Amino acid sequence: MPDSLSITDNRTGKTIEVSVDGHGAFPASELKKLGLLSFDQPLLATATARSAITFIDGEAGILRYRGYPIEQLAEKTSFLEVAYLLAYGELPTAAQRSVFEAAVLGAQVDTARIRKHVESFPAGSHPMSVLISGYAALGAAHQEAKAAVHDGEARKAALPTQLAETLQLGAYAIAASIGGTTGATSGATFAEQFLRTSGVGAEQLEVFARALEVLFILHADHELNAGTNAMRAIGSAETDAYHSLAGASAALYGPLHGGANEAVLKMLAKIGDVKNVPDFIEHVKHRDEKLMGFGHRVYKNFDPRATVIKSVVDEVLAVSGPDPLLGVAQELEKIALEDEYFVSRKLYPNVDFYSGIAYKAIGFQPAAFTVLFAVPRTIGWLSHYDEMMAGEFKITRPAQVYIGSDERSVPANRG
Ligand code: SDX
Repeated sequence: MPDSLSITDNRTGKTIEVSVDGHGAFPASELKKLGLLSFDQPLLATATARSAITFIDGEAGILRYRGYPIEQLAEKTSFLEVAYLLAYGELPTAAQRSVFEAAVLGAQVDTARIRKHVESFPAGSHPMSVLISGYAALGAAHQEAKAAVHDGEARKAALPTQLAETLQLGAYAIAASIGGTTGATSGATFAEQFLRTSGVGAEQLEVFARALEVLFILHADHELNAGTNAMRAIGSAETDAYHSLAGASAALYGPLHGGANEAVLKMLAKIGDVKNVPDFIEHVKHRDEKLMGFGHRVYKNFDPRATVIKSVVDEVLAVSGPDPLLGVAQELEKIALEDEYFVSRKLYPNVDFYSGIAYKAIGFQPAAFTVLFAVPRTIGWLSHYDEMMAGEFKITRPAQVYIGSDERSVPANRG
């Protein structure tokens, strides 16, 4: 059988032959030979990249970074080892690891400029607003990033500083959102330095730092999610990495995406007690609201990250003390997994369903949760940006289906 499609427009009888590659993908632009467009606003069946970074099998609940299963990486590596793996393609040797860790954790960062940016926001500002604009502010300071757009060595060389800046920007934004100010501090790991800089979790630093390392590993990349697609689309205009990060993080901020972890905590707090769960489930089934933290475009049986996060929750609650909201979450999950409405729609807990309970147990406020997603995801965004820049690409400019007015003239006698 030929590796091709025969596409016939029955309105004209015209047929084209289109090649299909080994991944089951065909160049949709060939449809133009029939005068046709494919319409796929959510990009459900439209690939916009060929990538070697992350593999997901939504039916089997598989997630691998550069071929390594997420469960093994969560158990056996550190966030900076995973960052190295995503960015450079291989796990670091012991020597490479210590050089990379020193480059990130000891980076000379313009802390004063970052603090000035964070402190320029009025009290009560959401830390994601600070982070999103902070990437653009860093872009203003790093004019050399524009030259790095087509310089692979320069892009890779900038990564440690970009990770260090992201750590400080995110941690200061969180500290400021709770009225705190802390100094830039050292840390044995990325997560420990983040906790010390944000002024959170000191009472059980060792346990909380390890838990946050695992959470950061789980959030580091996830193929072409909305934020990463935004990173690639913005980068396709040859925008520098920092300003592309501003767009990617803005996409992540949405409650349907990375903002869901904060929305889950608000939902659990609103439900308040296990006895209110059945009533809330009915509201969801009547479409009065969504069950935040449930459902996923790709995972249709379970999100492997949620499975790992559940064990992280147990570890942090063992030292921080029980959280009644965990019982509400577990009851929601139990009922939803047995209810035809959710089962028929293949809705299961995703990465955001339990992560907020872990962040809360460590000492973070809900407003910090999406920053805690964006900070680790920054290495995923930068790795996809670098992969695209290293290859062939054209500016992303979708076609549209025009449904507006035909030509008309401005009336001569306008009032
Ligand atoms: C992330 O893409 C990624 O990889 C993202 C992410 C990453 O790491 O980058 O994994 C991170 O964003 C996780 C998702 C976090 N968002 C939420 O938890 C918000 C709640 N979830 C939904 O909004 C929804 O499930 C999405 C956005 C996650 C997925 O949306 P889809 O794939 O477009 O699914 P859909 O809206 O077409 O839903 C199919 C059906 C619909 O019912 P019908 O109209 O067919 O009757 O399921 C229903 C939806 O109404 N549905 C839900 C629901 N999610 C889907 N009903 C109630 N509660 C929900 N959460």
